[in-house]
Amino acid sequence: MTNPEELLPELVTFKNVTKIFGVGPEARVAIEDVSFTVHDLPGKGELVTIVGPSGCGKSTLLRIIAGLEPHFPPTRGEAIAFGKPIVEPGADRGLVDQKYSLLPHLTVLDNIAFGLRLRGVSRSERRDRALEWAKKVGLEGSEKKYPAELSGGMQQRVSIAATLILQPRILLMDEPFGALDPKIRLRMQELLIQLWKEQESTVFFVTHAVEEALYLGDRVFRMASSPGRLVEILQVPRPDEPPESVRRKSWFAELTQELLRRLQQESPASGELPGIRA
Ligand SMILES: Nc1ncnc2c1ncn2[C@@H]1O[C@H](COP(=O)(O)OP(=O)(O)OP(=O)(O)O)[C@@H](O)[C@H]1O
Ligand SMILES: [Mg+2]
Repeated sequence: MTNPEELLPELVTFKNVTKIFGVGPEARVAIEDVSFTVHDLPGKGELVTIVGPSGCGKSTLLRIIAGLEPHFPPTRGEAIAFGKPIVEPGADRGLVDQKYSLLPHLTVLDNIAFGLRLRGVSRSERRDRALEWAKKVGLEGSEKKYPAELSGGMQQRVSIAATLILQPRILLMDEPFGALDPKIRLRMQELLIQLWKEQESTVFFVTHAVEEALYLGDRVFRMASSPGRLVEILQVPRPDEPPESVRRKSWFAELTQELLRRLQQESPASGELPGIRA
């Protein structure tokens, strides 16, 4: 039977993508033979989460989609977005980097508005939109501060707002919630789901937190290392409930345990997760 999704246009496709850093005895395989397709779902994007041990190539995968060196271009294989080979970075793809990079001499507000300035948006509109985004990520009252005056978690939220304000069709997030305390982290998870529904963008979200991957993802890409590779793609239900209450459900605990087990053992693809109806 044909999966109806297969008839939809492809948004991001990897065909046997391999990235090797260095040559000769120094050569290091970052990812090997990674293939997948994410379709353009009408009226809503897909939220893909990516999990795997440190060094398995999660950032490499995101940065190839973003078209950013030195990860891009891949050594072999094809990386395609919007039906065309990826050749360079573009406004249609926004990356919230693992090492969030803010401009130290600009205020919170100006950092959030920076990309809009590059696009020639007028000063007053930039200000209005940046104020709105500062509020959305819980930075109201800190708009005039400089990055050095902020905690790591606050800096990370500036970086998230600075990317989301540009409304990229494809949003690439590399451990964006890593520096957040648990309470703010749960709030940001809810916020991300809400914004994602509003913006209809497709999200690739890297995380080390298995619960976060399961809570946020429509699909979870599980990777393994040496060489970095995509082992399996797991379909998960996304509950329409806040993360705190989902975490208390036994089916969710069971899913988490099973995914953790597969990650720890770097086990080969082992099929559907428990409790999931195909
Ligand atoms: N610029 C680079 N030059 C050489 N090797 C690199 C470079 N960037 C990454 N690598 C190597 O490629 C592999 C994958 O790295 P990558 O950063 O994609 O992993 P990751 O899954 O994001 O890890 P982490 O969870 O620690 O962020 C690693 O072995 C790493 O050492
Ligand atoms: Mg990384």
